Amino acid sequence: MFGGVVPEIASREHEKWLSLVVKNALSESGVSMNELDGVAVTRGPGLMGALLTGVSFAMGFSQGLSIPCIGINHIEAHIFSNFIDYPELKYPFICLLVSGGHTQIWLVNALGNYELLGETRDDAAGEAFDKGARILGLGYPGGPAIEKISRNGDEDAIAFPQAFIKKEGIEFSFSGLKTSLLNYVSKQGKERVNSRISDIAASYQKAIINVLISKLKQAIDLTGVKISVIAGGVAANKRLREFAKKELSNFHILFPDLSLCTDNAAMIAFLAEEYLRENTASPIYLDAVPNLRLVG
Ligand code: KG4
Ligand code: ZN
Repeated sequence: MFGGVVPEIASREHEKWLSLVVKNALSESGVSMNELDGVAVTRGPGLMGALLTGVSFAMGFSQGLSIPCIGINHIEAHIFSNFIDYPELKYPFICLLVSGGHTQIWLVNALGNYELLGETRDDAAGEAFDKGARILGLGYPGGPAIEKISRNGDEDAIAFPQAFIKKEGIEFSFSGLKTSLLNYVSKQGKERVNSRISDIAASYQKAIINVLISKLKQAIDLTGVKISVIAGGVAANKRLREFAKKELSNFHILFPDLSLCTDNAAMIAFLAEEYLRENTASPIYLDAVPNLRLVG
């Protein structure tokens, strides 16, 4: 156990398993290579080694089959993952994007037409879950671990800071929350912390969720856009889903299926198909971009 993803190991594992994964995907789906219209691959953001392995493989694979290769921004794919379950979703909509590396609110006007309404100044929400879980000794990934142990906890037991919650404007900050948990744990000591770990985890989770939903509400008020989607790994959190439905009951809020929240190939293929339909395949030499930004 390393308490996170080790870049060097991740790229070696990608190299080791990639062709087998592709082979299995083809045989399980019953689609032959000749039936493929294109090959979709994540260009970024992500870890350089893993991205390069994927991009090189996809370029070789698509050139061998003489079909286009479509490089995808994986953050954009998170936003579009909602169309897989809700093909009737209409523009414009707001997307609260909450993953391990990003916490952003987007106004999505059309494919390729996005406005960033606000984002985190420091840690992402998923990162706050991961760091919190590490402090509490709950393992990695932190989100599911905190969610699980919080189920029996009192989420109002401890008042952790909720940065910017009362402030106008869409921005987030989660690094103070993590520090506050660290201070709490070192003040209370291991034994007392372990005896009420569910309460601590539930209160920490609530602090994250409260801020996310209150900023989503602000974005809805600011834009007047009534449809919102929540996407990215943290969108798998059931307490977040319940809370969003309760607090924003007057609005239309959608979540992807749980299997489509954390990083997955289906959302990458789905978005590539949208671009392919618009005839916007990537140039022949595709690059991997670890810090790729989504722009409007
Ligand atoms: O989108 P994702 O799979 O990868 C990135 O693009 O970062 O998101 C991963 C993040 C991790 O920080 C993980 O702890 C968080 O999503 N996550 C969750 C849950 N499942 C995954 N956070 C809260 N509750 C969950 N159930
Ligand atoms: Zn992701």
